[in-house]
Amino acid sequence: GEPAMSVFGEVPQAPPVAVFKLTADFREDSHPVKVNLGVGAYRTDDCQPWVLPVVKKVEHLIVQDDGLNHEYLPILGLPEFRSAASKVALGDDSTAIKENRVGAVQALGGTGALRIGADFLRRWYNGVNNTATPVYVSAPTWENHNGVFTDAGFKDIRSYHYWDAANRGLDYAGLLHDLENAPEHSIFVLHACAHNPTGTDPTQEEWKAIAEVMKRRKLFPFFDSAYQGFASGDLDRDAWAIRYFVSEGFELFVAQSFSKNFGLYNERVGNLTVIARDGDNLSRTLSQMEKIVRTTWSNPPSQGARIVSKTLNSPELFAEWKENVKTMADRVLLMRDQLKTKLVGLGTPGTWDHITQQIGMFSFTGLNSKQVEYLIKEKHVYLMASGRINMCGLTSKNMDYVAQSIHEAVTNVQ
Ligand SMILES: Cc1ncc(COP(=O)(O)O)c(C=O)c1O
Ligand SMILES: *[C@@H]1O[C@H](CO)[C@@H](O)[C@H](O)[C@H]1NC(C)=O
Ligand SMILES: *[C@@H]1O[C@H](CO)[C@@H](O)[C@H](O)[C@H]1NC(C)=O
Ligand SMILES: *[C@@H]1O[C@H](CO)[C@@H](O)[C@H](O)[C@H]1NC(C)=O
Repeated sequence: GEPAMSVFGEVPQAPPVAVFKLTADFREDSHPVKVNLGVGAYRTDDCQPWVLPVVKKVEHLIVQDDGLNHEYLPILGLPEFRSAASKVALGDDSTAIKENRVGAVQALGGTGALRIGADFLRRWYNGVNNTATPVYVSAPTWENHNGVFTDAGFKDIRSYHYWDAANRGLDYAGLLHDLENAPEHSIFVLHACAHNPTGTDPTQEEWKAIAEVMKRRKLFPFFDSAYQGFASGDLDRDAWAIRYFVSEGFELFVAQSFSKNFGLYNERVGNLTVIARDGDNLSRTLSQMEKIVRTTWSNPPSQGARIVSKTLNSPELFAEWKENVKTMADRVLLMRDQLKTKLVGLGTPGTWDHITQQIGMFSFTGLNSKQVEYLIKEKHVYLMASGRINMCGLTSKNMDYVAQSIHEAVTNVQ
């Protein structure tokens, strides 16, 4: 008879994810001099991925440990991982931890932590199965925030003012205005540090004011902490905002990623920390999280969590890790400094102070989409259409070429 039609005939082609598409285009480019400033991962000065020395060491320890096996982990994850992760986020002396109102769910990367948190909030926050609660994300933000909360069922995703393009800094007044005017109980996704993509964070004084409004307006903070250590090179300093909110008595979530600060991108190591008012409310919350995890991935993977927990739970390895994080952060700082100096030296029109004022892995250059297109087409320098560049894509070898290319783009294209 007739061959049956495919049941997938009506499926439309989904657009590619911008950052992966950019890397695919870069790979296909056969030009001998090409630079990829698009990827969201650390690179050495030889443009190579970096396996942290401490990670290599711990991987050897794991291989040699005959006591380990590949049994299922508990649904909420490796216990020693879950407890060590909160310690990194909240500090050793956290009263919330001592009061037993801090819990955690091991998740598949920061993305998994965001998703499990979003699924839980949609089911149980401020009314059962409530899809109408407004969820606010910064303008701009990591492009996945919107999709994660939409797929969790939220119907009212809004953006709050964050980036002031004219002044290349934080739109603090706009941010406060949006906080003041958000409906009570709205959820706010806050970047804990090293904001992606702008590299611009509130100051400590500004965070204090943000917390004051959020408490008064009963807004729920959902911190996304994907770059702890990358902002300042110091883990504690980068966790300041989270710890301040916890000390102010907020109930909140923190989606923690160890992808960047451990260089464990493909191991999918994340942690969703939950801070509740008391242990009773925490344990019921975790019991529902367990149900969500069970139908989502059932049990988390162990390798990355073992590497992180072994490192965090040993004082020597922990110290070594902090050094490794600092190595990465310092290289980023050096590249910022050199790029700014080169552009100023070339007399490139505009001001370039924001390159060194911004922090973390990324810089929002202020280049417009036409200039970006010129850089990709004419100079084989790949960057996101928003003008975001990964500072680790820069090396001592390609610095002159990239600075000269940006200079030409700014001079030739308005
Ligand atoms: C702001 C932000 N949040 C979360 C993530 C997710 O990280 P992971 O790879 O651990 O899922 C990223 C990764 O790029 C990010 O930039
Ligand atoms: C995960 O979060 C929990 C709760 O904050 C914390 O106790 C634990 O240490 C965290 N795990 C890691 C590896 O950061
Ligand atoms: C929430 O939604 C789920 C799935 O649709 C449904 O099974 C459950 O009964 C709902 N709960 C309430 C209280 O409406
Ligand atoms: C925690 O939850 C219980 C319900 O079991 C409630 O009675 C209690 O007041 C809650 N604690 C706080 C501080 O709200």
